[in-house]
Amino acid sequence: MTETRTEFEARAAESGAGATEAFRKKQRGGAAVPAERVSAMARDALEAIHDVIRKHQMTYEEYDALKTWLIRVGEDGEWPLFLDVWVEHVVEDVNTSHRSGSKGSIEGPYYVPDAPQPEDGVIPMREDEPGTPLTWTGQVTSTEGAPLGGATVELWHADANGFYSQYAPGLPEWNLRGTFLADEQGRFTIRTVQPAPYQIPTDGACGRLIAAADWHAWRPAHLHVKVSAPGHELLTAQLYFPGDPHNEDDIASAVKPELVLDPQDAGDGTVSVDYGFVLDPATADSPTTR
Ligand code: DHB
Ligand code: FE
Repeated sequence: MTETRTEFEARAAESGAGATEAFRKKQRGGAAVPAERVSAMARDALEAIHDVIRKHQMTYEEYDALKTWLIRVGEDGEWPLFLDVWVEHVVEDVNTSHRSGSKGSIEGPYYVPDAPQPEDGVIPMREDEPGTPLTWTGQVTSTEGAPLGGATVELWHADANGFYSQYAPGLPEWNLRGTFLADEQGRFTIRTVQPAPYQIPTDGACGRLIAAADWHAWRPAHLHVKVSAPGHELLTAQLYFPGDPHNEDDIASAVKPELVLDPQDAGDGTVSVDYGFVLDPATADSPTTR
């Protein structure tokens, strides 16, 4: 760790704490997990850890380093970051494997509900928002191919410097966060700017792990979406840009080939892309709203 903090690192620290606060407010609610499931999953998790200790013959020095690091994850407010980067992708897989509609991906730590609904289809952004303007058109349909009129697309993403509003300071509250209503044919048009590749915060406990293991901290540039329509399963996804070097080695393991866009250069310094969504019908125990 260097002693002088760059502007990026100073902002990154606050992102971790902000994500913890936001998660406390959000919670997914629902019934408490039954004791049998807590017991079964906790026992298996502990056994998996015991196996690692035996396999690698963990020393007391390494055990103490692990304890020190775990304490620090909490102190830095980085449990949401840690879990969303290294664990959530498996939870997402397990919970969506029954679907025949569009592929989803992890939510990550930076979703905020109730983003403004711009009349003109332009996501809230600064007057001089940096980045290549992006026009995105698409249609939301059912798995039967029926247009889902009145579907909602919530979009949030980092700016061209890799920062999320409400987590990095100095950005307008709803910058690059918007809620868009599809027309009666399920079609929508959204105007935004292309996000930049994003480095997970490097100055806290997650960064310590990355540095200590000699990994990298990059996620490819991505757009986050939640797509919903009455009677259909809520789809949480991320969309990626072809050619991004980190599509192959995303630290959060959240890229799927179906989620890579095919943007076209419009020839006037802007880019356009067509990408739609197919929503599965809701079942008794699937969430239909965020
Ligand atoms: C993290 C950030 C993201 O933007 C994301 O999509 C997933 C994880 C993170 O910093 O943990
Ligand atoms: Fe993200």
